[in-house]
Amino acid sequence: MRTQVGIVGAGPAGLFLALLLQRAGIDCVVLEARSRDYVESRVRAGVLEQGTVDLMADLGVDARLRRECMIDEALDIRFSGKLIHLDLPGLSGDKLVHIYGQQEVVKDLIAANLARGVRVLFEAEATGIDDVAGNQPVIRFKHQGKDETLACDIVAGCDGFHGVCRSAIPADLLTIYDREFPFGWLGIMSESPPLPEMTYVNHDRGFALASRRSPHVSRLYVQCSLDDDVANWPDARIWDELHIRLGYTARTELKEGRIFQKGITPCRSFVAAPMRHGRLFLAGDACHIVPPTGAKGLNLAVADVRVLARALIEFFRGGNAGRLDRYSDTCLKRVWKVVRYSTYMTTLLHRPPEQTPFDREIQLAELDYVLNSRAAQTTIAENYVGLPFEDE
Ligand code: APR
Ligand code: PHB
Repeated sequence: MRTQVGIVGAGPAGLFLALLLQRAGIDCVVLEARSRDYVESRVRAGVLEQGTVDLMADLGVDARLRRECMIDEALDIRFSGKLIHLDLPGLSGDKLVHIYGQQEVVKDLIAANLARGVRVLFEAEATGIDDVAGNQPVIRFKHQGKDETLACDIVAGCDGFHGVCRSAIPADLLTIYDREFPFGWLGIMSESPPLPEMTYVNHDRGFALASRRSPHVSRLYVQCSLDDDVANWPDARIWDELHIRLGYTARTELKEGRIFQKGITPCRSFVAAPMRHGRLFLAGDACHIVPPTGAKGLNLAVADVRVLARALIEFFRGGNAGRLDRYSDTCLKRVWKVVRYSTYMTTLLHRPPEQTPFDREIQLAELDYVLNSRAAQTTIAENYVGLPFEDE
């Protein structure tokens, strides 16, 4: 097989990139290791920045989002029985966020790619990439039990944290920045009406988050230990912890319901730089991971491929490689701002097992400062709704 851009991974990064290239008449092929069903049912986050929603509208893939999303104009943070209510449009110049599950975004993107004739091969696992430093890289992949190759001009490594593309960059040319937090998130999906506002909680017993997917489906999280197991979290214990951490001693405000999904995710900040090596360009989780507290993973992947698509279009149309050469630096400016915000929110809202009384007092003072400072609230709001894109 041959194409102009070989895209490894059918997550948000790969699928948005494919649509942007298809619209510009640039040929691309998407190789995805898992089945379509698996990729479309993988539960992840669901907070979309205005920039992500604008891109979906621009690509004409926002019809279902418009019908089914929930719009957030506020964000609540609770601590010590107090409430910080962030009026997002008021603090961030009329910006707000849309709540729409990542797997719903992926479903819409896959349907649009296939409808527009993009070749998306499922159960096609890339096993390696040859000659990325040359002019004709080749992706080796397994498909339907056979070893295949895809020759291309450019490889877009959108294969997530556990993919093969990052390892195609010689280790001595890659700088790794890594911080693992000593806790994880136990997340559930439940058939229960959500709280009116997205609510983050810093509680003595640990962090909690009340989010939603629809007027009938809640997405709820509690901080758990890193090596925890869902088997340790029977439904009753989860509801107990949520009532307590949300401060609902009466157990009436948070409605319980059937829990139909449960999983534990680690909390990690990770950056691999540079995001480019020869003809290989990394985007999304393949080169950076942010803790979920900032709700930025998907939005940052989208920001990367916006920059990459624009650079590739200039390259294939006019041979101008200027933006491609600046790709890594352009993206890393935003990446580090988003890692900063996500790390700040994680440190502000969680109770690490070894937290000293000194650190606890600093944390409570920081929360009380945010409660009483419009400047501090504005900082959180403008990051939560999404910073302006770098390459405008
Ligand atoms: N060959 C082909 N596909 C692969 C390979 C491989 N060797 N390895 C991984 N993949 C696929 C995965 O199955 C997955 O579908 O690459 C895709 C990567 O998608 P994501 O992990 O969703 O990463 P990305 O597109 O960068 O989106 C980032 O996803 O994980 C969330 O929180 C994260 O919201 C963020 C977003
Ligand atoms: C979610 O809705 O899944 C969600 C919301 C906010 C976060 C993380 C996840 O910070």
